[in-house]
Amino acid sequence: MEIEDYWSGLLLLADNIKKSEDKVDYCFLQLGASPEVRINHLPVPSKDSLLLMVVLNPEHITEHKQANIFKLNTYQLEVVQNINLTEDKLSFLKAYLPYCFLSLHARQMGRAVGVTHFAQSLDGKIATQSGDSKWIGNQENLIHAHRMRALCDSILIGANTLNYDHPALTVRLVEGRNPQRIVICSSDADYSSLKKHCKDHVLIVGTCKDPQIPQTEYVAFQANANDRIDCQELMKFLYQRGIHSVYIEGGATTTSAFIEEQATDIVQLHISPMIFGSGISSFKLPEIGQVDQAVHFDHFTFYPMGNTYMFVGTMNTQSYERS
Ligand SMILES: NC(=O)c1ccc[n+]([C@@H]2O[C@H](COP(=O)([O-])OP(=O)(O)OC[C@H]3O[C@@H](n4cnc5c(N)ncnc54)[C@H](OP(=O)(O)O)[C@@H]3O)[C@@H](O)[C@H]2O)c1
Repeated sequence: MEIEDYWSGLLLLADNIKKSEDKVDYCFLQLGASPEVRINHLPVPSKDSLLLMVVLNPEHITEHKQANIFKLNTYQLEVVQNINLTEDKLSFLKAYLPYCFLSLHARQMGRAVGVTHFAQSLDGKIATQSGDSKWIGNQENLIHAHRMRALCDSILIGANTLNYDHPALTVRLVEGRNPQRIVICSSDADYSSLKKHCKDHVLIVGTCKDPQIPQTEYVAFQANANDRIDCQELMKFLYQRGIHSVYIEGGATTTSAFIEEQATDIVQLHISPMIFGSGISSFKLPEIGQVDQAVHFDHFTFYPMGNTYMFVGTMNTQSYERS
């Protein structure tokens, strides 16, 4: 079975988890000719298929001779039983399977889950001083970003990133549907790249009045004391709209506001083997006086990503509250 088969299975799993209205204790993903997801039920055994069981409620860890069994600890996947998974498939599942359950975390928090992503230099720069950032990450990082776009309900960027990078924000390098594209913007911006590559409407959120741009929907928010949109409020608004996960693709100003307001949950940093020595820093947070005031992570992992690594850290642990 190829990585693409695993990928199709993960998309199916994410879809089923989002649609499920029941509490999820465990689920099965059967990969093969006709992939299948079963939530809180055993699948009908099928010949030549590969079986994955994900347990969310530890009381439901059972013996199953044919299943590769995992326990999901919030955003971390723990291997309980590996029957027939090779090392590359296992690391693929560890990297992406936890994101199939983002909807459950969103329901628990009553707001969309935030996953931020940057490709940065060794000295923590995401662009040169003039705004150039193409390409700091490698091809594997690009594929990763497209996978994440497909697993998340939406993708969000700030106005400067739109103006500098002219992105499409669609899924092109892997199988998957396009996420809802969201831009935080209160001033003029050039939306042509977004419109050119995809006909779906763009959601603009800002603090000014509706700029009435065709093919877009504008939602105005009250500016907070920092004269910006309150990121927690935005994530609650998106959740109420059925958007359970947001892939936050920068830039520094946008991502930092989410971090400062604890409105993002996972930070992904692709570390590129280059030094700028100048340029736009990944984060713009208020000055701290002591190291213990720095942003810390409950869990983190460095995943191999082509010729380099990606840091993935969980900002705050949210365990499931079971009713
Ligand atoms: N290497 C990478 O992975 C990567 C990824 C993304 C971007 N980048 C680079 O990052 C650079 C841009 O970063 P940046 O920090 O200058 O700008 P940015 O974060 O892209 O955009 C900042 C603007 O977005 C709006 N905004 C963001 N958060 C807001 C909030 N909470 N409330 C209200 N408005 C909000 C504001 O627009 P208004 O002024 O209109 O209100 C603000 O001025 C570009 O050079 C881009 O290439 C690199």
